[in-house]
Amino acid sequence: MYVPRNPGLPPRALFTPPGGMSGALDCAGLLLFSKARMGIRYALSALGIGLGETVLAPAYLTGSALAPFDWAGVACALYDVDRTTLAPDWGSVAGVQTRVKARALLLVHYFGLPCDGGIARAFCREHGLALIEDCAHALPPAPGEVGPGALGDAAIFSLRKLLPLPDGGALRLGSGRRAPACLPPRSDSPVALAPLLARYVAQRLGMHRPSRAARPPLPVPDTRPEEPAVGISRWSRWLLSCLDAKAARRTRRENYRLLMQRVAGIPGLLPLFPALPDGACPQVLPVLVPAAEQVADSLAAMGVGAYRWPTLPPRCARASETARWLAGRLLALPVHQGLDPVHLEYTADCLERVLHAR
Ligand SMILES: Cc1ncc(COP(=O)(O)O)c(C=O)c1O
Repeated sequence: MYVPRNPGLPPRALFTPPGGMSGALDCAGLLLFSKARMGIRYALSALGIGLGETVLAPAYLTGSALAPFDWAGVACALYDVDRTTLAPDWGSVAGVQTRVKARALLLVHYFGLPCDGGIARAFCREHGLALIEDCAHALPPAPGEVGPGALGDAAIFSLRKLLPLPDGGALRLGSGRRAPACLPPRSDSPVALAPLLARYVAQRLGMHRPSRAARPPLPVPDTRPEEPAVGISRWSRWLLSCLDAKAARRTRRENYRLLMQRVAGIPGLLPLFPALPDGACPQVLPVLVPAAEQVADSLAAMGVGAYRWPTLPPRCARASETARWLAGRLLALPVHQGLDPVHLEYTADCLERVLHAR
């Protein structure tokens, strides 16, 4: 059995006429980039935040989300998140803001599970801050759907993390902000689709190479080389009109609930979000386990693409004990639209065996 971390691309999607999918993602009002980080960089310019200024950002974060601030010469003053809800620790946020007088607050909706944007909005209003919602783990809500990304002065999404696309990030600017310009598309060949199709086939055949969980090379750098903004590739733009994002959202929610029921009672495991809020499109099911890295390695050897998140940049690890604590324990379990109940059952069985053996 193979339970990939992300969904593969079903070949039938290639035969759907563009625009023929009623559940396709509504991209109206979105500026499409190759990666979400490019959208953050663009949002900073649109909000008039630049060199020498500061934003408040959570210390529990990946380097690819911090990179665009570095590229813009904007400092990140790191605040703590709550260990059990991953919501901002508002005492910590207020303390940091008193010290640095930031221009904006970065609010992360971890794993697609929305945190309370209303509190963030009120804090930003009180302190004169712009609100940037990091919805990299969520799908943009369709008209009439609720979900993270509706309240911010800017909201970014990483479409390629939820849909089988070779690339794709998106930026939504709040009303009254400068209209998005057109970006040159990233050029690529159809070969970009090959890994996504291969993943689909490998899953169907139950083929996986015994391996350790994928992880970046050590030491992890604190800063990353600048990536100039490019638009989404033509392949991804075309796939966006052929893929059923509504069905993906529905299946992810069902899979989340099914897997939650199955793993909630496993000794040594603590689910972070037992209830799935209305409108949330979960990227994964996040749980806390002892020594997440070793558990992820054992699961990878069994063909389950669970992973520890994130690899903390050194500055985040230095800034926050909570971020180090979470990064050592959080395990992200796949619940994507390519999985059936049999894959979830297998994931839970493997997890039970691995935790029992420890
Ligand atoms: C919370 C968060 N924000 C932003 C990003 C950047 O997204 P992208 O890789 O599409 O640039 C990531 C990527 O992992 C992320 O996890």
